[in-house]
Amino acid sequence: MKLRKLFGAAAVSAMALAMAIVPASADGGKVGVCIYKFDDAFMTTYRNALEEMLTEKGYEVSVVDGKNDQAEQNNQINNFITQGVDALIINPVMTSAADQIIDLVKTAGIPTVLINREPTAEQMAVYDKLVYVGCDASQSGTMQGELILDTENKGDINGDGKVSYIMIQGDPENIDAQLRTEYSVKALTDAGVEVEELDLQRGDWDRAKGQEIAQNDLTKFGDEIEVVFSNNDDMAIGALQAIQAAGRTVNEDIYLVGVDALDAALNEVKAGNMTGTVLNDAVGQASGAVEAMEELLGGKTYAEGEQSIYVDYVKVTPENIDEFMN
Ligand code: BGC
Repeated sequence: MKLRKLFGAAAVSAMALAMAIVPASADGGKVGVCIYKFDDAFMTTYRNALEEMLTEKGYEVSVVDGKNDQAEQNNQINNFITQGVDALIINPVMTSAADQIIDLVKTAGIPTVLINREPTAEQMAVYDKLVYVGCDASQSGTMQGELILDTENKGDINGDGKVSYIMIQGDPENIDAQLRTEYSVKALTDAGVEVEELDLQRGDWDRAKGQEIAQNDLTKFGDEIEVVFSNNDDMAIGALQAIQAAGRTVNEDIYLVGVDALDAALNEVKAGNMTGTVLNDAVGQASGAVEAMEELLGGKTYAEGEQSIYVDYVKVTPENIDEFMN
């Protein structure tokens, strides 16, 4: 990329031939992609989309697994900087580590796109070659609440005048988990519906933990549970296993909503085993991240307060499910 800018593509190809070396990539530059951990269902879809788009555009891409360890990810960022990457796309392990990450990339002067875990506007403001591409998590929470409001009894299956729910939360350090938890319930209370929280547990975005939490709560609260809110689909699929094992039937005696629109969840919504989900548009965010990266490479800088680019969430119900299935 840098060579291309200085000499133009034709000249660089001629130089490469003359020097009998193969340039890093035919068209693009080197891009380092840091994912918080590979073992995450949603981020797997996201990283595959990202890698495919960048490769198709001719970039030399290296995608690394942070293994949910911020120290490991800091090393990976440092390695990419040493290797002289032209741009970085980073899904931070911990949002609270944003300052360290931004400091590293700023010192090295690498244009950087942060994805999936949003820092604050103040944190990003220190570096103008930095942008966040993601979604506004409060929107997905509101949509989950609306999915419940759209049911025939607005979630009050037993007709006692209140909606009794359990909340299966993602990693509470993460803004997506915080806002989905808050706004799903807020949608109900804003609509004048009384709510009762039976339990709130962290499931860290993980299917097995979702299953375990739902299983324990179903044993403890039984028929009292009318709604299971899950901050993501993977935990909702786990909860569904527990719901079915407990002999309960979704959309008849219990409601279940997730976020992401993973293929597995779309199948369950279609089959009536999940009340609904919310599309967390991995492909849209990946293409937004690539576009923002190319703008940064083209010299664009971002002013404070304009460093977050959002892709919309979309409600997914049995009515519109076919639009989302492959
Ligand atoms: C997704 C989760 C995912 C998390 C990772 C969220 O936006 O909904 O499925 O585990 O991002 O940070």
